[in-house]
Amino acid sequence: MTSTPEQLAGVADVDCTGMQALVTGSTSGIGRATAIALGRLGADVIVHGRDASAGADVVDTVTAYGADAQFIAADFADVEAVRELAATVRSTTDGIDLLYNNAGGVFRDGQLTSCDVEYTFHINHLAPYLLTTELLDYLNTDARVVTTASAAHQGASLDIDRTRSVDNHSAFWAYNHSKLANILFTTELAQRLDISDHTATAVCVHPGAIPGSGFTRFLPGPLPRIVQSLEVLPGVTSVNDGAAELLFAGISSQTTDYSGKYLAGQQLKEPSSDARDDAAARRLWQESANILDITEPLNNLPDNKKTRPGVDINVTE
Ligand SMILES: NC(=O)c1ccc[n+]([C@@H]2O[C@H](COP(=O)([O-])OP(=O)(O)OC[C@H]3O[C@@H](n4cnc5c(N)ncnc54)[C@H](OP(=O)(O)O)[C@@H]3O)[C@@H](O)[C@H]2O)c1
Repeated sequence: MTSTPEQLAGVADVDCTGMQALVTGSTSGIGRATAIALGRLGADVIVHGRDASAGADVVDTVTAYGADAQFIAADFADVEAVRELAATVRSTTDGIDLLYNNAGGVFRDGQLTSCDVEYTFHINHLAPYLLTTELLDYLNTDARVVTTASAAHQGASLDIDRTRSVDNHSAFWAYNHSKLANILFTTELAQRLDISDHTATAVCVHPGAIPGSGFTRFLPGPLPRIVQSLEVLPGVTSVNDGAAELLFAGISSQTTDYSGKYLAGQQLKEPSSDARDDAAARRLWQESANILDITEPLNNLPDNKKTRPGVDINVTE
């Protein structure tokens, strides 16, 4: 019998009753499996994506377990839609305990968004940055922000200028760069939360290589079929395994001290040196605010900020 994500994460006995979870990108793939698992564990779940019928299906599945669920549609390419998503969360809940920044993907065609940045950077980084900052004062005590990054960040260096153009667009460069941004965002968010005495924490996760999700649908030509056929290869994991990574990061008692860290294989991992670059993390945070034309969130940092939040724990490469 197939194991559930909560069994795979060792959190099947965690009672999430009374928790409010927002899982972006939960109409499909690992977000969908995470939302359903959280509902099974008793959490009330906000399902997000663009596909209303897929969203309704997830809501029905969660409510069948006795938890509350609602679907909120928001296209992450649309800044106002992200703000409306945050506003709806505020008007329909008492606060958020778990924010999963999971929506995203690899996008074949190069195009600029209304913010004059490349689409992948906007969907995978800028939209979750905006959503998180819109909900900062709505995160409950000890809330956790979990962002789905990727091992694909390896080899990428922060280059915000390159995201302002789609000349010589490379879908894979754009994806890898956006996943680097997810890690830099997480470390900077964790540090700023800590310095602001906010009790919320932030972690990011590589969920595994999961061709069985909807991840490959935007790839060109025969690539989706080819990648999906890799599902039987060693090193490749299932949608439930990927959701288990997200659950472990979000609700396991083992990860409460991991703020600012990067997890993979349900353990701490050292991300690339570019992903550990404090100056790049700070630059990304500030530039993201500039691009969105908002005041820099959590901007009470001392100029000489040096410390990282969280504890010193053995980390594997
Ligand atoms: N699969 C892998 O091997 C793998 C590896 C490392 C990291 N990841 C990361 O895991 C996360 C989830 O991916 P997945 O593998 O589960 O793929 P998936 O099945 O394609 O799920 C992607 C989710 O993101 C949502 N989404 C995509 N574009 C959106 C947009 N413009 N606005 C709002 N929502 C949007 C989709 O919802 P709608 O279609 O309803 O809009 C869907 O729910 C992504 O961040 C991905 O980068 C995946």
